[in-house]
Amino acid sequence: MNSVLITSDIRAALTEVLAAIPHDRLFILTDDTTSRLCLPLLANMPAVAAAAHIEIGSTDAHKTLDTLADVWTWLGEGGATRHSLLVNLGGGMVTDLGGFAASTFKRGMAYVNIPTTLLSMVDASVGGKTGINFRGLKNEIGVFSLPHTVLIHTPFLRTLDAANICSGYAEMLKHGLLSDAAHLESLLAFDLQRLCHAVAHPSPEHEAAAAALLQTLAEQVGTSVRVKEQVVEEDPRELGIRKALNLGHTAGHAFESYSRRQGRPLLHGYAVAYGLICELYLSCVRTGFPTSLMRSVVTFIRENYGSYDITCDDYEALYELMTHDKKNTSGCVNFTLLGGVRDIRIDQLADRDAIFDMLDFYREGC
Ligand code: GLY
Repeated sequence: MNSVLITSDIRAALTEVLAAIPHDRLFILTDDTTSRLCLPLLANMPAVAAAAHIEIGSTDAHKTLDTLADVWTWLGEGGATRHSLLVNLGGGMVTDLGGFAASTFKRGMAYVNIPTTLLSMVDASVGGKTGINFRGLKNEIGVFSLPHTVLIHTPFLRTLDAANICSGYAEMLKHGLLSDAAHLESLLAFDLQRLCHAVAHPSPEHEAAAAALLQTLAEQVGTSVRVKEQVVEEDPRELGIRKALNLGHTAGHAFESYSRRQGRPLLHGYAVAYGLICELYLSCVRTGFPTSLMRSVVTFIRENYGSYDITCDDYEALYELMTHDKKNTSGCVNFTLLGGVRDIRIDQLADRDAIFDMLDFYREGC
């Protein structure tokens, strides 16, 4: 496994990493948000002084073939070779698309991820899944290709708004469910609403509370990333146990794609949170997950994520989207479920009736 380094001094850490990777040219990819909020931190670093910089749009709507072509063009015009290095400074969109661009340009050049959102710190930037959306489907085109290094600079958490903190936190809940009861319990006890309030209404009065909560969050990030690292190390190409990381994602990706199609797009982590409600319910029904624990997680999600309203008229489309998920074979819908915390049951098939029942629970039962 390539290294994931957690730091509060990105300048020192990046200088060290760049010195350790031989490269002929350096390129930095940002989006329009990280250009403004994060790139200035790297300004005037001798190690990045000669780097070429390109900026792309910051939302998932830009995770397209056109943007990818722009990045390939920029690399080509900038004289990139197979021995060049790309630094992706941004959220999951930048690290996924930048990782794919680097992995395919001249058959592959090295890249380093510097995730700037909570979601990308604990999930997207780690583990080598790269790619773009295609024909309305999430991450439809891509390759497994590990970054040389992932540098997690926890002070970037301060640049996030409440919605992006919640979005990343959903993946942390997933890692808690996959790892151990104590970690899950501490995640469920965390005052996410208070942190979101402090972030949304910055004031000297809220500063001490925000600093303490961000410090706790930064510590939880470390634990969460280790859960993901361990799974990826065991199964980098998702042939078996890495499917555990899909918990909440089969239903979640369907919600995410459908929300875009309906013009009311959900952030990825919100879709995953709603997917967790569905798939923990299915886990209770199919694999004996404790109902009381499912209720605790569902309550936490309801309180912190609200709801994405659907009616039974939406079920068929959501089911269709689930059958298109690339983890499925022969039209069956394949879920990762749990028998309990850390009791992972991959490759659980559910039919249309079971999925409609699950959506009933999502809509009415919580
Ligand atoms: N986000 C799930 C994985 O990396 O496998």
